[in-house]
Amino acid sequence: MTTPEVRPARPQFSSGPCPKPPGWSVDKLDTRVLGRSHRGALGKARLQDAIERTHALLELPADYKLGIVPASDTGAMEMAIWSLLGTRPVTMLAWESFGAGWVTDVAKQLKLDAEIRTADYGEICMLGGIDPAQDVVFTWNGTTSGVRVPNGDWISADRTGLAICDATSAAFAQDIDWTKVDVGTFSWQKALGGEAAHGMLVLSPRAVERLENDPAQRPLPKIFRLTKGGKLIDGIFKGETINTPSMLCVEDWLFAIAWAEKIGAQGFDRPRRRQCRGPRPLGAISGLDRAPRRRSLHSF
Ligand SMILES: Cc1ncc(COP(=O)(O)O)c(C=O)c1O
Repeated sequence: MTTPEVRPARPQFSSGPCPKPPGWSVDKLDTRVLGRSHRGALGKARLQDAIERTHALLELPADYKLGIVPASDTGAMEMAIWSLLGTRPVTMLAWESFGAGWVTDVAKQLKLDAEIRTADYGEICMLGGIDPAQDVVFTWNGTTSGVRVPNGDWISADRTGLAICDATSAAFAQDIDWTKVDVGTFSWQKALGGEAAHGMLVLSPRAVERLENDPAQRPLPKIFRLTKGGKLIDGIFKGETINTPSMLCVEDWLFAIAWAEKIGAQGFDRPRRRQCRGPRPLGAISGLDRAPRRRSLHSF
């Protein structure tokens, strides 16, 4: 193999780990909470602040819940898959390695009744014709192929199934129609350049309703449990994490959030608009996104 003569000016991979926000340095992080309990007043307040400000920045519907969960995006996705799937048929969509990983969970580990639709790298699979009474699992932006869904129009507004979306490379980088997503997941080391380890889990009211009234019938380890006695553990969505979080990562996330708040909606809109125009150099901005090829778009 030959070593390339031209190297990227910025060696950060740009899909997580991503570059830190401009002006970031470790001594700018608020360290008051380090070495103190995350269950204490200050720790809980910082966790709650991270949740509320992220909720606002993502413009999640007011009745959607957002929580901090263990094990990064993978933890959040598997928590959702194990807690929710199995009560009705599911359609699994995959067009790169991470989506394929969720197919493995569902088909090989859980052995569920699933329709599996896949596409090769650079392509996207058929999005049309998904029964709105069934669940669907998909990745908004497939990081390793750079192919994303064009929008959420293919998800029925009147669905009774749940749309479960791995949004880790899309959150903050692309327009997500959250009204079409019942479960959304992402992690901090992606578009805003946070630190890895924690996942964020978005739940729509219908996802909560399913968790409380018709959850998957299987035993769950503590790390996956979102309900207790048939009720949502509301504390998870107010900063009472299931297990011990890294408060250093939380402070680093709060720095990223403060930067994102400062650049405001317009700062986000520019890269989003650029992405919607179509192909551009790999890794030019976070999200590694490429619009699906025309042929695939027309096959919906
Ligand atoms: C689309 C997608 N899903 C899941 C993951 C796994 O994320 P994490 O390492 O935060 O669990 C990645 C990581 O790059 C990803 O790009």
